[in-house]
Amino acid sequence: MTLLLTNVAKTFPGGTRALLSTDLDIEQGEIVSLLGPSGCGKTTLLRIVAGLEAADAGGRVLFDGEDVTALPVERRKIGMVFQSYALFPNMSVRGNIGYGLKMQKLPRADIAARVDEVIALCQLQPYADRSIGALSGGQRQRVALARAIAPRPRVLLLDEPLSALDASLRNQLRDELALLLRQFGITVIFVTHDQNEAMAIADRVAVMSQGKVAQIGTPEALYRNPATGFVARFVGDAMPLTGRITADRLHLDGGTLALPKAAEGYQAFVRAEDVRIDNDGPISARVETVTFLGTHYRIALSGVVPGTLFALHGGLSAPKPGETVRLSIAPGAILTLPPEDVDA
Ligand SMILES: Nc1ncnc2c1ncn2[C@@H]1O[C@H](COP(=O)(O)OP(=O)(O)O)[C@@H](O)[C@H]1O
Ligand SMILES: [Mg+2]
Repeated sequence: MTLLLTNVAKTFPGGTRALLSTDLDIEQGEIVSLLGPSGCGKTTLLRIVAGLEAADAGGRVLFDGEDVTALPVERRKIGMVFQSYALFPNMSVRGNIGYGLKMQKLPRADIAARVDEVIALCQLQPYADRSIGALSGGQRQRVALARAIAPRPRVLLLDEPLSALDASLRNQLRDELALLLRQFGITVIFVTHDQNEAMAIADRVAVMSQGKVAQIGTPEALYRNPATGFVARFVGDAMPLTGRITADRLHLDGGTLALPKAAEGYQAFVRAEDVRIDNDGPISARVETVTFLGTHYRIALSGVVPGTLFALHGGLSAPKPGETVRLSIAPGAILTLPPEDVDA
């Protein structure tokens, strides 16, 4: 199913503008993540797609070109998974998965066949007859997903489905979920505040800030060509290189860097992996802390920008706190972006 949103906005009674006018175009089978900090409007947008919330007048939601704006949730044929899986604790795995099909009054044999199919797809065979209380967090997550897809929804809507799990399980399930969603072959909107999750799971990521989609693109495009400072900071933790720009030079406290192009009036950003400890570098910095992270050292540096600048250092040894080092940053690694709106 293709999904098209035009001019979709939401103002709650009382005046909270949870979502400003938003357009979104999602292809058949595409997995799109809505990524942004808490309160930026992700859930509101998802609920409007679901039909659980009405958009402000003028907004339209189209499924396969058909206007569903006025259609109630139960007639939109969507599947949903929430952060709290909202499974029925007294029912078995099989009972939970078959529940929606029973409500649809499908013949019993069809229900059994469909339930078996999604149980196999979600690798839940060993648990099919267990009660929900006897499952781990990750298994419950898969049951919630299986239950959502069993009625063959046109679109699957997931709202922070991994955030109830602890960190190590979350990372493992993230990769499993990415594979599983692709096997389903259905259109998916996946809401998260975790950039790694969004990048691992989605074909395209819509980065949201304060009720607006700041930028939408593939994970690579967002990472390499962020459109705003907000996107640069949110996707890949770019750090502001606060200094003065004259033509294609950036003057920092610790020295002057070359920029890829003249960028007066712009803001410069860099990511820690692009800050290099380099004896011949043009920048001087003082090492504050050094953290060994196995694959690399993370080094906090002062004296370059008003705040702290971090460098990821992959060598076998690292400088010591208190030492003065030289740094270089390749011109191509510096992101120059238009100054941000005060509200961005
Ligand atoms: N039912 C509601 N009534 C009033 N304000 C709401 C309601 N639901 C959400 N909001 C507000 O709308 C904004 C966006 O909320 P939400 O879409 O839940 O954000 P997110 O899912 O990105 O954390 C927030 O400021 C939130 O407080
Ligand atoms: Mg939310």
